[in-house]
Amino acid sequence: MKKIAVLTSGGNAPGMNAAIRAVTRAALAEGIDVYGVRQGYRGLVEDDIEPLSSSAVGGICHTGGTVLGSARCPEFSELEIRKRALENLSRKGIEALIVIGGNGSQTGSHALHEMGFPVVGIASTIDNDLAGPDITIGVDSALNVALEAIDRLKTTGASHRFAFLVEVMGRNCGYLALMSGLAGGAEAILLPEKDMELEDLVIKLKEAALNKKTTALVVVAEGAKNNASACMEYFRAHGERLGYQLRATVLGHIQRGAAPSAFDRVLAARCGGKAIQLLLEGQTGSLVGLMKGEIGAVPLNEIAGKTKGVDLQLLHLAEQLNCPTVKPEGDFVLVPKF
Ligand code: F6P
Repeated sequence: MKKIAVLTSGGNAPGMNAAIRAVTRAALAEGIDVYGVRQGYRGLVEDDIEPLSSSAVGGICHTGGTVLGSARCPEFSELEIRKRALENLSRKGIEALIVIGGNGSQTGSHALHEMGFPVVGIASTIDNDLAGPDITIGVDSALNVALEAIDRLKTTGASHRFAFLVEVMGRNCGYLALMSGLAGGAEAILLPEKDMELEDLVIKLKEAALNKKTTALVVVAEGAKNNASACMEYFRAHGERLGYQLRATVLGHIQRGAAPSAFDRVLAARCGGKAIQLLLEGQTGSLVGLMKGEIGAVPLNEIAGKTKGVDLQLLHLAEQLNCPTVKPEGDFVLVPKF
């Protein structure tokens, strides 16, 4: 193996830069030249591919985003488009590709590998929805952003007797919502995997008020049936019953912009090194990530197109940890007192 390429694809995740650096330097250390592909699969198709030197990836492992750029490229599902991408790679004598990305990106890796091109994926998405890895590069940093926002909202909420509804990213996966809700001490957590009737949410907030909590927190996954806007729509008509004034904050892309945490940087370094090791051993067609606590690999054909669920026992635990002492009776109206 003499030449490989690396790309980042899909939504950026904190730690992607550390992964690019790790892949590049681990490959150079083995005498392999590395090319960087700009803007994910789009750059592969448009031949936006340049050599990466060791110094080009210097000073980036502490930065968020991706120096290679990223994009979503739905047309990559077309065979003719993928053929064009492979032609661009072979014209440069590139023998293998490393794809740093999440679910859609690894479906693309699998498709290239099925066409006979050696690919190794590195699991990186804030959503943590990839089947296979325990936790993907970017999740820890995004989670800490959500948690910091939650902590701040609780501080202001307690001063004004506001309840906060915080919507976190995660596409159709509730992992970020579940974990930030558990860590943030949420009164309720609404997930795509397990939603809650809004009248039950009314009860949760009433319970919090009855138990003299100065603020209450509801964490909502963006993919939940009742996301922040659906909840606010409902509560506009029912707000006076809650015992708090309700405010909503949608965190959105703020979660993706963080500098990577120590955990994500270490994970990225280890995954980058492992990906090069697998290439050298000829074990392509696999996805590298943290699996059962170890850096390992899973065949792309076992995970492509599949998503991972969340551990609903943790939702149960979050509910238990918020178990109120006083329960509301009947359909009473709570008036906030200061
Ligand atoms: O997959 C990462 C992610 O941030 C999801 O959590 C979110 O649903 C989506 O990307 C947003 O996509 P875009 O950046 O294209 O708006």
